[in-house]
Amino acid sequence: MMLTGREMRSTIDEDGVLTLSLENVAIGDPGDDEIIVRVEAAPINPSDLGLLLGPADIASLATAGAGGGATLLFNVPKDRLAGVRGRLGQSLSIGNEAAGTVVAAGKNATELEGKRVGMIGGGMYADYRRIRAADVIPLPKGASTADGASMFVNPLTALGFVETARREGHKAIVHTAAASNLGQMLQKICLADDIPLVNIVRSAEQAQILREIGATYVLNSKDDDFIAQLTDALQQTGATIAFDAIGGGTLGNDILQAMERAAIRAMTDYSRYGSDTFKQLYIYGALDTAPTVLNRLSFGFQWGVGGWLLFPFLRKAGKEVAEQMRQRVVDELTTTFASHYTRVIGLADALNPDILRAYERKATGEKFLIKPTLG
Ligand SMILES: NC(=O)c1ccc[n+]([C@@H]2O[C@H](COP(=O)([O-])OP(=O)(O)OC[C@H]3O[C@@H](n4cnc5c(N)ncnc54)[C@H](OP(=O)(O)O)[C@@H]3O)[C@@H](O)[C@H]2O)c1
Repeated sequence: MMLTGREMRSTIDEDGVLTLSLENVAIGDPGDDEIIVRVEAAPINPSDLGLLLGPADIASLATAGAGGGATLLFNVPKDRLAGVRGRLGQSLSIGNEAAGTVVAAGKNATELEGKRVGMIGGGMYADYRRIRAADVIPLPKGASTADGASMFVNPLTALGFVETARREGHKAIVHTAAASNLGQMLQKICLADDIPLVNIVRSAEQAQILREIGATYVLNSKDDDFIAQLTDALQQTGATIAFDAIGGGTLGNDILQAMERAAIRAMTDYSRYGSDTFKQLYIYGALDTAPTVLNRLSFGFQWGVGGWLLFPFLRKAGKEVAEQMRQRVVDELTTTFASHYTRVIGLADALNPDILRAYERKATGEKFLIKPTLG
């Protein structure tokens, strides 16, 4: 029997109008290596919002239609349209990852029938998702679908940071927006793996969250002596790699500058080229969409600034490393990689203007989980 279900879609037209809607779609039978999963839990993460809302102006939100056919409309400012030219006119399905129950399976995947699985691959804000069996992981005993909903993106990214630091020869790490869901996982990994981590947050409440996990270094970027505190922490830990979720503004610059100052403290001879300590800043998020400001003369000539993205990293790291990381996530799903949700909503609720404004804030400790079975 052909299944049909709702699927959330985001479309930007040539005039810069972004439309969010729920479409009814036919799922299609699974291929030999495919399964159909009834989606039971899907997190709303900042990376989902990037596709869901693009660069739209949230204040422009308007509603159209009513009931099941209601849509939300937003304006994308003209100067931001060039950045999304590649998606204009396309109806894009949303939601990176989710968990649910396998309701149908192709002939090579029958062992998954009836199992609860976590999955990644886009299009998860839906009632059903047809997906390759290779792209799901059966949930460990005792784990709920809410536990398994976020078992890919943030856990693998946090593990990827540690692996990147190791591969590139850094002994300690700096992390920004550090009380995020991902940041809390990173702190737990670093404690277990004995890797010093310098956390940068922007409020006392966020600092408290990390201290309760056991963090040693937690700095508030709002403190007057933040740069001095950061330089001391970098000298103590020897951290020379930073992962920055914020991206916009001057924080990345401040980190490179403080790394350079910490390195210079250990130099006996002055060099007009600065220290020969290599400093790496990876920007992996866009929590602040303003331009990144770098005053390069403040951190010498031994530095690199780059983007960091999970999937290219996994491809580079290779199958074996990726497999080990996935296994660690399964083994520690309800401890190191536990995600906490403050609100559980139905699929249709995600298009409620007040609810959308709340999850769009991406505030610390406020995580939304979509449970399509709620309506
Ligand atoms: N590159 C990749 O492959 C990859 C993979 C996974 C995740 N990510 C990125 O990782 C980041 C964290 O994701 P998550 O799911 O863990 O987030 P989350 O739990 O929703 O937390 C977001 C955090 O960011 C803070 N924040 C928001 N805007 C900020 C700003 N302008 N300046 C400073 N802090 C700000 C929030 O603090 P307040 O409460 O103070 O607002 C909150 O602590 C996101 O940027 C996401 O896109 C990237």
